[in-house]
Amino acid sequence: MKLNKISTIYFSPTNTTKTIVEAIANVFSSEINTYDITFDRTKKVENFKEDELLIIGMPVYGGRIPYLVQEFVKNLKANNTLCIPVVVYGNRDYEDALLELSDYLEEGGFKIVSAGAFIGEHSFGAEIAGGRPNDDDLNIAKDFALKSKQKIQNINSVNDFEKINIPGNHPYKESASATIEWEPETLDNCNDCGSCKDVCPMGIIDKGNPKLITDISKCIHCCACVKVCPQNAKVMTSEMYNKFKEFKGFLMLTCSEVQKQPELFM
Ligand SMILES: Cc1cc2nc3c(=O)[nH]c(=O)nc-3n(C[C@H](O)[C@H](O)[C@H](O)COP(=O)(O)O)c2cc1C
Ligand code: SF4
Ligand code: SF4
Repeated sequence: MKLNKISTIYFSPTNTTKTIVEAIANVFSSEINTYDITFDRTKKVENFKEDELLIIGMPVYGGRIPYLVQEFVKNLKANNTLCIPVVVYGNRDYEDALLELSDYLEEGGFKIVSAGAFIGEHSFGAEIAGGRPNDDDLNIAKDFALKSKQKIQNINSVNDFEKINIPGNHPYKESASATIEWEPETLDNCNDCGSCKDVCPMGIIDKGNPKLITDISKCIHCCACVKVCPQNAKVMTSEMYNKFKEFKGFLMLTCSEVQKQPELFM
């Protein structure tokens, strides 16, 4: 089968999902139609056609895809368009996220060629899966893309694809990340450089005064502002800090020792 257009969609506050999606897409073509929905989940996306391929990546939040992007993904419409869904998780587990993403895509009319769960440095700190995806992860992603490409080349019609078994449960686990109560705060050594406001997917860091979070109830705890701060002045601290510290300690104990490997489904 010949492809006439390759598109990518990703939501990626700390860039690990973007890195994996790009590594896969670049094996298919150097001309990619990209929808980065990190800062705008209302972007208009044209309906996808039969001779196209979509590579779509989402981070795992609480074993699901982030609640913030669910409607966007559910609204994607395709006409037997080929699709490669991937999720990127912080070395704990991806639970129902890949199944959820794949289900929404199939309901929208996509045909799944292959799917993958990759590992990225945990949003909550480099102590967990620091530096991932690393070179090995990227080589695995490229090899996965090559095999997916061969699979597409070897078929004549989208109807020749068999349904892929993707792990996960129905009903999906309850999404807990929407109820996290930690919040980023700014320490006195902030020098007002403004980097944090530029990376906040929710646009809630005040443009004139980046020490200020305008609407904390919208924070998705992605930690993009914490990771980007050159002064280490944006931190997850608050009355809830001890809860965050305890949870991070639990993650470091349970998720940092064994480096998990990507799981691929064809
Ligand atoms: C609110 C929240 C919940 C998360 N839940 C999980 C999880 O359930 N399992 C896991 O392994 N990693 C989890 N992570 C870590 C991210 O999936 C991981 O760091 C991912 O690489 C972030 O993607 P990004 O760089 O594209 O933002 C969570 C991160 C956040 C912010
Ligand atoms: S304020 Fe919240 S949503 Fe915005 S970058 Fe920081 S952690 Fe993410
Ligand atoms: S990135 Fe850090 S130093 Fe710069 S404005 Fe934000 S909190 Fe302040």
